Amino acid sequence: MGNRTATGGVAPEKKRRKKRPCNGRDIAQAVLEYIPSTLGLRLRNRFYRKICLRGGRNLHASRYVHIECPEKMCYGDNVTLNMFTWINAAGGVEIGNNVLIGPRVIIHSANHRFADRETPIRYQGHEYRRVVIEDDVWIGGGAIILPGVRIGKGAVVGAGAVVTKDVPPFSVVAGVPARVIKER
Ligand SMILES: CC(C)(COP(=O)(O)OP(=O)(O)OC[C@H]1O[C@@H](n2cnc3c(N)ncnc32)[C@H](O)[C@@H]1OP(=O)(O)O)[C@@H](O)C(=O)NCCC(=O)NCCS
Repeated sequence: MGNRTATGGVAPEKKRRKKRPCNGRDIAQAVLEYIPSTLGLRLRNRFYRKICLRGGRNLHASRYVHIECPEKMCYGDNVTLNMFTWINAAGGVEIGNNVLIGPRVIIHSANHRFADRETPIRYQGHEYRRVVIEDDVWIGGGAIILPGVRIGKGAVVGAGAVVTKDVPPFSVVAGVPARVIKER
């Protein structure tokens, strides 16, 4: 079978990326994600402040929050990340002060490239685009924030919204794709 794909294409062996070995930080992060109560909150507050590119005071990261590439994530003071929120900061994620992020929110800062039809998408690499969430934003449960988006100061993102474009400050957006439904 060699490096043939299931449909007969050829996976470019040379382009395969070596996986980074699991290190102590990864293990600590995985364990801390499960610790309940205020003990877990305190430990995660301290841990993310150390491993993120820049971390503010008083992070409230609930259980089962997961941050990929925390070394590329910055956050301000008084940020809440609710249960099961998943952030991929590979392309950079910047979160301001007093930001509330609901449960099961997903923040992507990278897309797979897919322009070349001959090469499987998994071997085409990524396009990285920073996500910025300004101060005093509230993101409702289950929202999905796509790469390159900036959510303006004081904006509200409705539950389940898929945010594909920048959100103006103090606006309320909802739906798929997210549209402005009102101003605050
Ligand atoms: C966005 C939100 C804050 C707006 O609340 P609101 O100001 O009371 O808005 P309204 O209920 O008056 O809705 C205004 C319109 O937007 C629509 N709308 C509201 N929220 C929506 C959503 N999440 N998705 C799609 N449409 C939505 C309403 O159906 C209504 O449409 P209509 O005018 O055609 O009837 C709220 O609906 C929401 O999504 N809250 C998030 C709750 C949550 O995730 N909590 C977790 C806590 S962290």
